[in-house]
Amino acid sequence: MCGIVGYIGLNQAQKVLIDGLSKLEYRGYDSAGIAVLDKDNAIKVKKRKGRLKNLEDELEKGALTGTAGIGHTRWATHGEPSDINSHPHCSIDNRIAVVHNGIIENYIELKEELIKKGHLFISDTDTEVIAHLLNSLYTGDMVETLRLAIDKIKGSYALGILCNEEPDRIIAVRKDSPLIVGLGEGENYIASDIPAILKYTRKVYLLDNDEIAILTRDSVTVLDESGREAGKQIFNVDWDPGDAEKGGYDHFMLKEIHEQPKAMADTLTGRCFPDKIVLDDVNLDAETMKSINRIQIVACGTAYHAGMVGKYLIEKFARVAVETEPASEYRYKDPLVDAHTLLIVISQSGETADTLAAIRLAKEKGARVLAITNVVGSSIAREADDVLYTNAGPEIAVASTKAYVTQVGCMTLLALHFGLLNGQVDKATMKRVTSGLKDTSALIEKALGDHDKIKEYAYEHFKIDDMYFIGRGLDYYTCLEGSLKAKEISYIHSDAYAAGELKHGPIALVDAGTVVIAVCTQENVFDKMLNAIKEVKARGANVMAIAKEGHDEIIPEVDQVFFIPEMDDEITPIPTVVYLQLLAYYLSVARGCDVDKPKNLAKSVTVE
Ligand code: F6R
Repeated sequence: MCGIVGYIGLNQAQKVLIDGLSKLEYRGYDSAGIAVLDKDNAIKVKKRKGRLKNLEDELEKGALTGTAGIGHTRWATHGEPSDINSHPHCSIDNRIAVVHNGIIENYIELKEELIKKGHLFISDTDTEVIAHLLNSLYTGDMVETLRLAIDKIKGSYALGILCNEEPDRIIAVRKDSPLIVGLGEGENYIASDIPAILKYTRKVYLLDNDEIAILTRDSVTVLDESGREAGKQIFNVDWDPGDAEKGGYDHFMLKEIHEQPKAMADTLTGRCFPDKIVLDDVNLDAETMKSINRIQIVACGTAYHAGMVGKYLIEKFARVAVETEPASEYRYKDPLVDAHTLLIVISQSGETADTLAAIRLAKEKGARVLAITNVVGSSIAREADDVLYTNAGPEIAVASTKAYVTQVGCMTLLALHFGLLNGQVDKATMKRVTSGLKDTSALIEKALGDHDKIKEYAYEHFKIDDMYFIGRGLDYYTCLEGSLKAKEISYIHSDAYAAGELKHGPIALVDAGTVVIAVCTQENVFDKMLNAIKEVKARGANVMAIAKEGHDEIIPEVDQVFFIPEMDDEITPIPTVVYLQLLAYYLSVARGCDVDKPKNLAKSVTVE
């Protein structure tokens, strides 16, 4: 949520800042702004409500010149999206400009104190308080001043600060919101996330909580909480700059859907063998597993759906009971956790505030935490005891696709691993499932081959107001994911139901023309699904189904059917979801929605 970028160097800052913001827009797109120090050391600010394009249009009329600056793309928390509430925020004398990601919890209290001292506020944001607070405490040294301010601020923040009395440096700090420092030659950068600066450098420092970074053109100093040099290690990013571009596709989402065969292969490489699973960074041996008597899986949104698949698979292969909970619920429910608990968290970004809070809570109570995440060096990766990276490459579209299939891939590996450790998985099962996993890239390719038919179905039905997804067993979780995808990018109201539940209420919603997506890949309940389809058809529904080849009996019962090849039931969530991703994508395109930047959403939910 909210993207921050900063540049100090020899080139014009505006270009680097806008370029960085264009890569960070997925973190929020309610407004965007930049502040640049001009040649007379005056801070000049331009900011506009709405997409980055609005700011770019404004800058066309008059560029901001200068070689040091900060920028921001906003997902509104305090104060409606407006020009005034956009960042950067400045002290009233324009001495200090600030960009912020996070939430200042005690901003009202601080604001009242500052107003009493004569400060005049112009926005409704919590961030403006920081600019005024820094100004009121200013000692002539921004690092010293920042420390004084931090003592007073409660909440989460990643801050980029520009001060016209210290024109040759940018100061940054983070607490519970992500921030990295990019290292260049004669120039340095700050950013919320790697893609923003990937074009310029692959060498970064990953800031830890309470670290302050001081950037000049030629140096970066990082101080720890006590003011000593933090001794940071350079982290070399191995992502390709092309990964953060659309590469000829109309949208990042479509590109990322098509990247799934490679992403799955990268997830499995070096880990999945016919007779063993190698998870180098997961230090859970048979002995440790014996000491664990409770497994909990916690995540948000799409990642939570991957967690539900994980629960099913761990229970199936390792025969251990698993609880799942959305992180936002888990953190407030006084969960049963102790030193014999393994908490598995799943997060693409590795920065989701609720998931991070769940980790901290569980660790406090003595649990061991294993994270499945896509972002190396993210907060979640750093706070977990063990990390299993999904290796999906950067995911830019707000709607998660390749992260999801690789999360499911990781969960399948983990379930087998646990089953091997506790002796529940025999050789034949191992061979069968690992060979199924190895086929997933090709299976996804095959699903992508049905692309035009899905598009046709979407274009036939895009005017609907509601749609329902039904499935059983693993298919139910795929339905939850398909339904989330559809609602978040096409804004069609949609729900997913375990098909056996239809008669207990939801079938009342089915009328002539209601679109029902029936996922029917689980052999043991195929006949039950056929019954459910007949029941909704009898009420006039239009049914699109996904089933395994060989089940031709479904053809006369539905309006459209997509067949996936014969495969193990446990593997089906990976290729099946691709149909639902493409369906959501084309519904969104047909309805003229902004696919990559759906309204009200941001990719990385770093605030509660
Ligand atoms: C939906 C989507 C979200 C995220 C959720 C968790 O397409 O992307 O539901 O899955 O916000 O984000 P991460 O995985 O970054 O923790």
